[in-house]
Amino acid sequence: MDYKIVPFDFEICEQASILHASVFERPWSKKEFEVLITASPGVFGFKATSLEEHLYGFILLQYIIDDAEILTLGVLESHRRQGIGTALIKTAIKQIFIKGAKRLLLEVNEYNKEALLLYKNLNFKAYGRRKNYYLLNDKSQADALLLEIKLNN
Ligand SMILES: CC(C)(COP(=O)(O)OP(=O)(O)OC[C@H]1O[C@@H](n2cnc3c(N)ncnc32)[C@H](O)[C@@H]1OP(=O)(O)O)[C@@H](O)C(=O)NCCC(=O)NCCS
Repeated sequence: MDYKIVPFDFEICEQASILHASVFERPWSKKEFEVLITASPGVFGFKATSLEEHLYGFILLQYIIDDAEILTLGVLESHRRQGIGTALIKTAIKQIFIKGAKRLLLEVNEYNKEALLLYKNLNFKAYGRRKNYYLLNDKSQADALLLEIKLNN
């Protein structure tokens, strides 16, 4: 499968909101994506698309002073296990390294096995836990695990 990874831009916000809604319990609207990438300090990202600009996945991050944090990461269900999630994170790491970041941080639901495996493969380490951070649609709760990668900046 051919795909390219390029900066996340205004034109992709509508497709991103549709993909986001297919992946997460609380969808983000097109407007929320637009505000995030045009009017939120330090927010940027990357998109993985087909050569015809069909969206397969995205990552958005926020970089402030020394730390960058992953705000969202999603890959279309039909295109998973093909390395797109890994490629998006590696592209983001290269970019924040150039910007001078010292750490890359993220929060993940303790039961999100796929994401935890992906992060483990990339060598993220746990540094904390937020108890009952997520309220799920079935009203159950889940902890957020706080993961980080330290960069040699
Ligand atoms: C997590 C997610 C982004 C991974 O995207 P992806 O493109 O499938 O990831 P990759 O193909 O790069 O997978 C990398 C590795 O992660 C692990 N992994 C990912 N999905 C897995 C699964 N369903 N079962 C087992 N291992 C899995 C594997 O080790 C995999 O390597 P391998 O395929 O060589 O065995 C994707 O599953 C997704 O969008 N999930 C829903 C949204 C989400 O949870 N986002 C993260 C929130 S913190």
